[in-house]
Amino acid sequence: MSAREEHARVERAARWLSDRVGADRCAGVELAMVLGSGLKSFVDALDDRVEVPFSDVPEWPRPKVEGHGGAVVFGAVGGAPVVCLTGRVHLYEGWSPSEAVRCVRTVRLLGARRFLLTNAAGGIGDGLAAGDLMVLTDHLNLTGQSPLAGAHEEAFGPRFPDMSEVYSRQLREHLLASGEGLKRGVYAGLLGPAYETPAEVRMLRGLGADAVGMSTVHEAIALKAMGAELCGMSLISNLAAGISEQPLSHDEVIEAGRAAAARMTAVVSGLCRRFA
Ligand code: HPA
Repeated sequence: MSAREEHARVERAARWLSDRVGADRCAGVELAMVLGSGLKSFVDALDDRVEVPFSDVPEWPRPKVEGHGGAVVFGAVGGAPVVCLTGRVHLYEGWSPSEAVRCVRTVRLLGARRFLLTNAAGGIGDGLAAGDLMVLTDHLNLTGQSPLAGAHEEAFGPRFPDMSEVYSRQLREHLLASGEGLKRGVYAGLLGPAYETPAEVRMLRGLGADAVGMSTVHEAIALKAMGAELCGMSLISNLAAGISEQPLSHDEVIEAGRAAAARMTAVVSGLCRRFA
């Protein structure tokens, strides 16, 4: 598919959502969030909710992984207008990078300027334990792919966008000030879906990764290219392979999300309230 066609799809989705929810409401969003594995319960705390299933929005891909939900939810936190995407699609499901970022590009086109990307990740860095929340300082895109590869579409940003500060220093500071004991570190995004081998985890550690997961980096690249201000937070759902003696399981990742939901919700609410 050409870059023009991809842009037309994003525009169509944006127009549909704007008609459905209201242009003012869409444009008034102070913070847009992608809620990763097990974290979607944050939307329960929103005031004045309007929820639209992903499957209703034209052109949007539908998440297939259990525990990932799948709705765009407009609402408010302490008076701050926000929007949440409860779930995302991943490359390992067979989606292309442009499909994987279509929802966030739509929300950006609707007028959101600030984003928080959340995910579950395996902990690699010293001092990280299961249940920790880690604010992303930077990332390693190790998927070998990019949502910006292929024909260039000016509306999605420059051909060679600067990535020297993907995760805004200012938003990071806001996030760190919104909770106690938050960690910080570099997130490595891999294709998956197999969890890493212990040798791969040793390699990632050598490359400077503190946590590893299968999402987020393409969304971050696409949003940064579109001029958004963004930050990211990982829930360390497990210690990465070889760091923990335990074999990894998807159930463990989902369960850790549930267990940390209250803490995560408090931090994210705190961040939202800064934009009331
Ligand atoms: N590796 C990759 N992705 C993950 C992990 C992990 O250990 N935990 C949660 N998502």
